[in-house]
Amino acid sequence: MTMQGRAMRGRAMRGRALKVAVVGATGAVGETMLSVLAERKFPVGELVALASERSAGGEVAFGNDEVMVRDLATFDPAGVDIALFSAGGDVSREYAPKFAAAGAVVIDNSSAFRRDDDVPLVVAEVNPEALGRRPRGIVANPNCSTMQMLVALAPLHRAAGIERINVATYQSVSGTGRRALEELGRQTAALLNFQPAEPAVYPVQIAFNVIPHGGDFLDNGYTSEEMKLVWETRKILGDDSIRVNATVVRVPVFYGHSEAVSIETRDKLTAAQARALLEAAPGVEVVDEAVGGGYPTPVTHASGRDPVYVGRIREDLSHPRGLNLWIVSDNIRKGAALNAVQLAELVASEA
Ligand code: A2P
Repeated sequence: MTMQGRAMRGRAMRGRALKVAVVGATGAVGETMLSVLAERKFPVGELVALASERSAGGEVAFGNDEVMVRDLATFDPAGVDIALFSAGGDVSREYAPKFAAAGAVVIDNSSAFRRDDDVPLVVAEVNPEALGRRPRGIVANPNCSTMQMLVALAPLHRAAGIERINVATYQSVSGTGRRALEELGRQTAALLNFQPAEPAVYPVQIAFNVIPHGGDFLDNGYTSEEMKLVWETRKILGDDSIRVNATVVRVPVFYGHSEAVSIETRDKLTAAQARALLEAAPGVEVVDEAVGGGYPTPVTHASGRDPVYVGRIREDLSHPRGLNLWIVSDNIRKGAALNAVQLAELVASEA
């Protein structure tokens, strides 16, 4: 094996039909991974759907087919080319190294490896070159909020140097998983029927409410979801000097995260310049009232679609080199499943 082969780990895949495993295939992200693989005609020779013992023996949809779900704990990963993991950090920590040792390239949607120096953290449109160094055979898929933010901010950073980011998120419940989707539906129906809303997944009622709490509270007063925006932004943009100030809020929306983002740049960027850069950026669609386009929302634009939508692009009245943007995307697609499949496509096309 060459030095480069050792650095990258995994078998040559170009031009072959591949054995692809989806771990967490019954979950909110896993089922979208399956549909994105089918939609984009990924070169799947064999698809293995894996989940816990609880759902083994059931079926999941893959294109026009149904695939039987198998138990991850008893599955032999030998022969798997690419494994897409979205079953939580504990499952990734235990099983991703086993799949990689068996020769698979693992694309992991959990936060288990994102901060490890020898695991690349990659947004397909932003830093695809980072895929080239994956000594452990594991690639990390960024957090959904960071993902959509950086698809929009990377072109502005390249042009004018972002020094500081202020972001408040409005995150949908699908980011928490299938049980959270059910909880929002159940609480909404209960309240409309004059019944009490019982919180189970979230600490307080989510229906008709907003919750300034994502993940766990840390010693510094921030939540883990907020700190992901700080750490992951620096790693993906390769710039530890970028200051990020984040507030994560969960809102009663099923699919699609929104973000009110204010940036401060080293060089002045006008709203018109930013709009032009964003219109030319891969993966971005500008929807902006200032040019007669209105504004994007999760329901009207993002849900079920691929792009990162950007609107409300305007100069910050309180800062000479400040810009405000409103960034909306489907957190399950670009924020998770779509990016994972895009990374798989890049891996599969390597010589
Ligand atoms: P299962 O349906 O068998 O519980 P979500 O984030 O939408 O809740 O989905 C989580 C996904 O991770 C599901 O597919 C779930 O499978 C899977 N999962 C959770 N725990 C395990 C485990 N210990 N082993 C394998 N898969 C797991």
